[in-house]
Amino acid sequence: MNHFALPGGAGLDLVRFPVDPRDSLRAWDASDEYLLGHLAEAEGPLDAHRGGDLVILGDRWGGLATALADHAPVQITDSYLAQRATAENLARNGRPADAVRLRSTRDDPPARVDVLLVRVPKSLALLEDQLLRLAPAVHPGTVVVGTGMVKEIHTSTLQLFERILGPTRTSLAQRKARLIFCAPDPEVLAARPANPWPQRYPFPSDVPGAGVLLAGRTVTNHAGVFSAERLDIGTRFFLEHLPVAADGHHVVDLGCGNGVLGLAAALAAPGAEVTFLDESFGAVASAEETFRANADPATKARFVVADGAGGLPPGSADLILNNPPFHSYQASTDATAHRMFADAKRALRPGGELWVVGNRHLGYHVRLQRLFGNCRTVAGSPKFVILRALKR
Ligand SMILES: C[S@@+](CC[C@H](N)C(=O)[O-])C[C@H]1O[C@@H](n2cnc3c(N)ncnc32)[C@H](O)[C@@H]1O
Repeated sequence: MNHFALPGGAGLDLVRFPVDPRDSLRAWDASDEYLLGHLAEAEGPLDAHRGGDLVILGDRWGGLATALADHAPVQITDSYLAQRATAENLARNGRPADAVRLRSTRDDPPARVDVLLVRVPKSLALLEDQLLRLAPAVHPGTVVVGTGMVKEIHTSTLQLFERILGPTRTSLAQRKARLIFCAPDPEVLAARPANPWPQRYPFPSDVPGAGVLLAGRTVTNHAGVFSAERLDIGTRFFLEHLPVAADGHHVVDLGCGNGVLGLAAALAAPGAEVTFLDESFGAVASAEETFRANADPATKARFVVADGAGGLPPGSADLILNNPPFHSYQASTDATAHRMFADAKRALRPGGELWVVGNRHLGYHVRLQRLFGNCRTVAGSPKFVILRALKR
């Protein structure tokens, strides 16, 4: 089930993170296999290091980095889960932990890149931002190969490579995957556009409830962050009904994205302490910038890249706000939402509350009722519900 066949006959034992034996989803797809097959057959692109690095961008669960660990790759990802999966897969396959240098999308990119492998991310914005950040390190001799499933590679994807790095073509499709070949061109590199990320928008002035506190304030969004261009309608509905914390209470914005929920909580109760948590490095950076630009400097805040709320000390939170994710890499992520609820229960003190907004059809109330032994619907619209569960 977890056996990932490598070109040449060897194989790897690959898992997603968190490791869940009941999870039937594989930690790789045909695009990873296509890329590794091409690298094994092509005229030594991996030996093209000339004082620079081999960079792997967007490796979902660390399969590429683990397979190429002998080439001392730098992995760049926006996902903390991807980093943890990479560490897990290196260990399972007897590779040293430091065989891959783990970097996030917010870290400075390497100074010189000789080989750039790109697993096309779901977010075009993230690809644009990362190619622009890497462009100064790319040179005409850099070997650039992208990979993705056919349905993920659009004309706009190829145009990004063309506009930022140089002429680009694609391979034939193989098992619904495709490769992207890009030849960096000094003129294109020199004339590349300025990086439009992070992007900022003014918070709308027509959101009632806690939304009033945010009206006109600037929201910062790094590339790839949830709802980076406008306020999400579920978040909007949540803001209309957001509870106000007491002074001294610890509020957690769980899956914070750009952090508007936690910021609203902080503006409503400047004497509260707010923790912003997300598994996306770009999200936590966005939340921090949004908070610093708008909150009372006296309000205590922490910004944490983590998986769920598992890292919070048990019983340390008074109020947890959660707009859970519903999709990840094309797979439904009910599992993530459910894990967040269980984490939240552990992190709450007795009497503490978890508030969740979700699409009505997702049926989160059933799960919360089972887990907490209570669940009240605070507000509802045709599309969304806001649920409150009390830790007894
Ligand atoms: C629906 S968005 C909500 C964002 C923000 N709270 C809002 O309302 O605009 C869900 C967020 O959960 C984050 N997320 C997904 N899986 C996570 C995990 N395992 N641990 C922490 N955060 C996660 C995503 O990166 C995303 O920012």
